Amino acid sequence: MKGIIFTEFLELVEEKFGLEMVDKIINQSSLDSDGIYTSVGTYEFSEMLQLISHLSANTDIAVDDLLMVYAEHLFKALIKAHPNLVEHYKDPMNLLASIENHIHVEVQKIYPDAQLPTFELEERTDTKMVMVYKSDKALYMLGKGLMLETFKLFNVSASVEFEKLNEAGTEVRFFINKA
Ligand code: HEM
Repeated sequence: MKGIIFTEFLELVEEKFGLEMVDKIINQSSLDSDGIYTSVGTYEFSEMLQLISHLSANTDIAVDDLLMVYAEHLFKALIKAHPNLVEHYKDPMNLLASIENHIHVEVQKIYPDAQLPTFELEERTDTKMVMVYKSDKALYMLGKGLMLETFKLFNVSASVEFEKLNEAGTEVRFFINKA
């Protein structure tokens, strides 16, 4: 998993819960990186799982809720780091429909070792979209949060619902409806 995901996560933890919490979750985890991340480095995904589950245990906030909050912070950081990838979009539905064949394609060029999810577009109208998320990481709540942030960026209201296609959540169907 790319370092930017870790550096932004720890920045948010510091902002919301303080530096002591950052130290605490790093110390509670067994990390090959020793908790030292650079945005362009690549680290084991298991490190993220440990950090977030310790944060959840220490704060009594469900991992899913933490992922939704994290998505808000991460989206802003991603578009700040890569403004050229999103600036020509005028509509959130177009942006979301283009993750698979444009945005994440470019991301893969920038970070060749990135392991990105896939989003297969099943249906698309002016107001509705159905997309299937697939990733071994099962970060579909992060995906849901990033979708909602995309709508916020354009000041458009929308709802994002999903159904898990398997227990693990490595395949999830999203139903996106513009209000
Ligand atoms: C400018 C926009 C975006 C950029 C630059 C970007 C970039 C990235 C990067 C660098 C990663 C980490 C990959 C790794 O660690 O190997 C990632 C993961 C991810 N991205 Fe994007 N992304 C963008 C927009 C979005 C949007 C709008 C969605 C929402 C559907 C999305 C969904 C995800 C998910 C769910 C992951 C987690 C990895 C997984 O589930 O396998 N991304 N993205």
